Amino acid sequence: MRRGPVKELGWGSRFGLIMAMAGNAVGLGNFLRFPGQAAPYGGAFMVPYFLALILIGIPLAWIEWSIGRRGGAYKHGTTPGMFYRLWKHPISKYLGIFGILLPAMVGVYYIYIESWALGYAWQMATGMLRGKHTYEEMKASFGSYVGTANAGLISFSSVSYSFFIIAFLINIFVLGRGIAKGIEIVAKYCMPVLIVLGMILAVRVLTLPPRGENQTVSHGLAQIWRLSPQDFQTLMRPHVWIAATGQIFFTLSVGLGMVHTYASYLKKKHDLTLNGLTACATNEFVEVVLGGSIVIPAAVIFFGVERAREIVAMDGTFAIGFYALPLIFEQIPYGEIFGVMWFFLLFLAGLTSSMAMFTPLLVFLEDELQIDRRVGVLLVAFFAFIMMQPVILFQHHKVLDELDYWMGTFGLVLFVAIETVVFSWIFGVDKGWEELHLGAELKIPRIYYYIMKYVTPVFAVGLVVWFCYDGLLEKITMKNVASEDVPYIWLARIMILLMASFLMWGVWYAWQTHPKFFEDEEDTKSENSDDIKTIEDALS
Ligand code: PHE
Repeated sequence: MRRGPVKELGWGSRFGLIMAMAGNAVGLGNFLRFPGQAAPYGGAFMVPYFLALILIGIPLAWIEWSIGRRGGAYKHGTTPGMFYRLWKHPISKYLGIFGILLPAMVGVYYIYIESWALGYAWQMATGMLRGKHTYEEMKASFGSYVGTANAGLISFSSVSYSFFIIAFLINIFVLGRGIAKGIEIVAKYCMPVLIVLGMILAVRVLTLPPRGENQTVSHGLAQIWRLSPQDFQTLMRPHVWIAATGQIFFTLSVGLGMVHTYASYLKKKHDLTLNGLTACATNEFVEVVLGGSIVIPAAVIFFGVERAREIVAMDGTFAIGFYALPLIFEQIPYGEIFGVMWFFLLFLAGLTSSMAMFTPLLVFLEDELQIDRRVGVLLVAFFAFIMMQPVILFQHHKVLDELDYWMGTFGLVLFVAIETVVFSWIFGVDKGWEELHLGAELKIPRIYYYIMKYVTPVFAVGLVVWFCYDGLLEKITMKNVASEDVPYIWLARIMILLMASFLMWGVWYAWQTHPKFFEDEEDTKSENSDDIKTIEDALS
């Protein structure tokens, strides 16, 4: 009998792998967060954006793919085991818990947001948003959709709750079917659909007739693409660099642990340089070309530059997508069809990301705690569901925002710093470079050796330092929190701490009860896919 679980059969096809990895990266962030981050800075944003992509984003993706594939060869699907294999120090496995904690806690609110898109697609299809003619009306309608408009003790609306349940069940169903039979199949079909929908919408927006002298497609595109002399001043401000780098992390889904887990299902000699780059490139196409051509140009054409900017500044990044676009779709021919497409596109983008979010937790239960898969899925579903309740019911007390700051913003930056230091400095770039090129179909230019050695980790650590200096203390001490929100902010933090404690205990327990599993030699069998197939077949 082999000690430890048998890793599930890996990816079925290269196309499936790339679509799943790209789907993991392509999310709500590509269509909503990116334009919202870019537009306020004008063209100045794209300079640090592309630099961060080339100097930090892509190397990080390669680093995560190789940590993951290497971990998979030792039968570890999550970062505690993976880090331990890179660095045999008692602390490494505990640092690895971030790679399970962050995606799971992001998933707790992300699926809820994703369900709004589904609910809005339905509202568009059934004409429920008809008859609202102003931005304010649309905004109010969103408030009643999510239940914050008339919130008392709780914010609740049966419509949005029902769509949440649907989105939740879809996610759990895909999760339960596993990598090849669940995630890969969904990605293989949904990603091409998403790209086609995105193209149709982009073409529609880019062919809209001008509605005024300054309300043209080119004025819209200029918000992201035109670099004027005064933008060089903007480039001197650290904020634009931090925002651009943050967006690169967010959009590539690095620093979360999801890429590692997906990559652990690669065979030892599977290429990761070309596949990794292709997944990143697909994400960038969807973000910059499609994401950049929909919301901002549409808003500029209908509202004008000033008002569009005001909306972004006032209501944040989701406002255009959920308030302004439905309004615009009301006014163009066949707008409802485009509206359904838009929200369905957002839902697919969300789903292909969120189905990765609970995967590390499930895989951890399976691989390291040796819990049966079916029991694992039930446990994950149960606890995720419980934790989602405060996010939904206390949304008006900013539980969602608190989780997003600690997990999806600060946590992500911190974990990037940890993993680059572990990979580039402790494990060492020399060994890392070799690992990266096992079975590689693309030889990475040598300059990346130095980038990975110096630029990526130094920048990542620098970013954590910046965060600590720029508002972390105020965040911890809740300086800007209204007093009625304080208990709810604590609730969000307690949820994070409980989850982190469980994972710490899990790591401790796993290493206590079956230490040999963590010292075993590399699993040479994983090189032979036929062999695994037989074992997998025998199990199912
Ligand atoms: N990259 C995905 C997106 O753009 C998923 C993601 C969500 C990444 C949350 C980080 C945090 O939406």
